[in-house]
Amino acid sequence: MLRVAIGLAFRSFSTCSRHSTKVSVLGAGGGIGQPLSLLICSNPLLSNLALYDVKDTRGIACDLSHINTNSRVSLCYSGSEELEECLKDSEIVVIPAGLPRKPGMTRDDLFNTNAEIVQSLAKACAKYCPTAKVAVITNPVNSTVPIVAEVFESAGVYDPRKIFGVCTLDTVRAKKFVADLKGVNATTLHVPVIGGHSGITILPLLSQITPKLSLSSEEICSLTERIQNAGTEVVNAKAGGGSATLSMAYAGALFTDALLRAGKGDPVVECAYVESNITEVKFFSSSLLLGPEGVTEHLGFGTLSAYEEDKLRALLPELDRNITKGLQFGKQ
Ligand code: NAI
Repeated sequence: MLRVAIGLAFRSFSTCSRHSTKVSVLGAGGGIGQPLSLLICSNPLLSNLALYDVKDTRGIACDLSHINTNSRVSLCYSGSEELEECLKDSEIVVIPAGLPRKPGMTRDDLFNTNAEIVQSLAKACAKYCPTAKVAVITNPVNSTVPIVAEVFESAGVYDPRKIFGVCTLDTVRAKKFVADLKGVNATTLHVPVIGGHSGITILPLLSQITPKLSLSSEEICSLTERIQNAGTEVVNAKAGGGSATLSMAYAGALFTDALLRAGKGDPVVECAYVESNITEVKFFSSSLLLGPEGVTEHLGFGTLSAYEEDKLRALLPELDRNITKGLQFGKQ
């Protein structure tokens, strides 16, 4: 049953592929890390899953290794001295390590703790798997991705095609909220979300939904605000128990699947937060064409409505501040 449920999420899986890929999950013992590892482990494009956390991951790895997939989850690592073994030969590294929000906190409030965690993990990636694609989930994504980029740059191994901030949860939420409001199929909707991954920097392009849907200006305003604040909706509902974990694991597994499919040569289009020159800010999330080496083309964001143009103008200064903060920290 589980296999069926997960198979539905990964619509484009090729079940007979022999492409072999090692994926490492750093922060695998956490609220996101555990279900994310479960979903990645069931991906038939995976050959090897390496789990790492500062907490002991042996029990989690043992648990996952009993699932009858063809991937190996025999590897498990805890403690920084074991990071090299975990990262060696990784094609994809997914990073959900770090503190989640509590009620009343913004993602930027996590900066002080999570910046250091991401910086130290990025240093290890730059050293032990410099050509891997790195997918950063840890918040504040607007700043943690520039930190990783800066660390790779300092190590002389930065390839902007390969460092991603995972914003897939914003597109997952956008599809779900639009579908619920309009009574349409959430699994076949496409809603681009651009900008960054916090508050007003998240900009859903509701004028570009496909298949085309008609929304009133009130619906556009309330959907935009709900998508921007959806993370806080979960933080408040969990009342001190953390932030989105299950929906994030689902979204993180979709993004990992996109990288795996692109890695074996399928052309894949996905939104992600990367170094970009499509606006005046250095990092920006938009639709990307992915290939074996990461980003092959920035697809831009087409023609915006007047409402979206205003929102884009308003978000750029805040996104720029978040980016500068990350770049400055990453240089330390
Ligand atoms: P959690 O606290 O449940 O798990 C975090 C895990 O990271 C823990 O197991 C912890 O031991 C581990 N960890 C801490 N320092 C580490 C290090 N140096 N190396 C390896 N592992 C380390 O937190 P949760 O809920 O899993 O959230 C993780 C992060 O994901 C948070 O920063 C959260 O804000 C972010 N997040 C991002 C989203 C996105 O859309 N990009 C959505 C939801 C959450």
